[in-house]
Amino acid sequence: MKKHPSDRANFWHTLWAKNTIGFHQEEISPFLEKYWRYDPKKVFVPLCGKTKDMIWLSQKKHDVIGVEFNETAVRDFFIDKSHKTKQQNNMQIFYNKNIQIYCGDFFALPQINTPLIFDRAALVALSQNLRQQYVNYLKKITPENAEILLITYEYPQHEMPGPPFSIPQKIVQNLYSQYQNVDKLDERNVLDILPMFQQRLSFMKECVYRIH
Ligand SMILES: C[S@@+](CC[C@H](N)C(=O)[O-])C[C@H]1O[C@@H](n2cnc3c(N)ncnc32)[C@H](O)[C@@H]1O
Repeated sequence: MKKHPSDRANFWHTLWAKNTIGFHQEEISPFLEKYWRYDPKKVFVPLCGKTKDMIWLSQKKHDVIGVEFNETAVRDFFIDKSHKTKQQNNMQIFYNKNIQIYCGDFFALPQINTPLIFDRAALVALSQNLRQQYVNYLKKITPENAEILLITYEYPQHEMPGPPFSIPQKIVQNLYSQYQNVDKLDERNVLDILPMFQQRLSFMKECVYRIH
């Protein structure tokens, strides 16, 4: 049976409510630090959770725009920080000087005019039937020449249901075929550093792509 959008949202709201947010990392993404080579510009972080990668980006003088539909995540991100809120396009926006987070559904976002996009654990969080919709909507709301740094996982999908889902290179290339270049930059084995998957998976790689 097809999942209703509110079921999908409830799945994530339950994880946040139970604080079972294994995807959240205390450290900055090593691939972000290694491959982010851009001068200060606006950067969009879809399905941002409360990732500290946004703090790193803002420290590099980027203006960061995130979207996250779980309010606890957004409030946690801004905890102890002086932020304000405003209402725009029926969405609440939490913001401080360099970071603004739309608290709402990605698929309801207005135009986001950022030339850069950082996707860690967003595409891989989405079930198969939503992925092309996600890529198409991302393309629609960002400028024609926007550039994406995308981080994915690869593992034998039959060994674990996900999320995170395994998205092999061929699928990445198909999903982003509207873009001229889908370049794989690097990969690393991550099973050693992700104990929660060690019992279930025979291998797990993290891969990084530059897409433009
Ligand atoms: C796997 S987590 C990744 C969070 C973040 N990118 C990180 O690296 O920690 C995916 C996040 O997307 C949020 N999410 C899922 N679907 C969404 C949607 N349609 N609109 C906004 N947020 C969504 C979930 O609440 C969750 O916090």
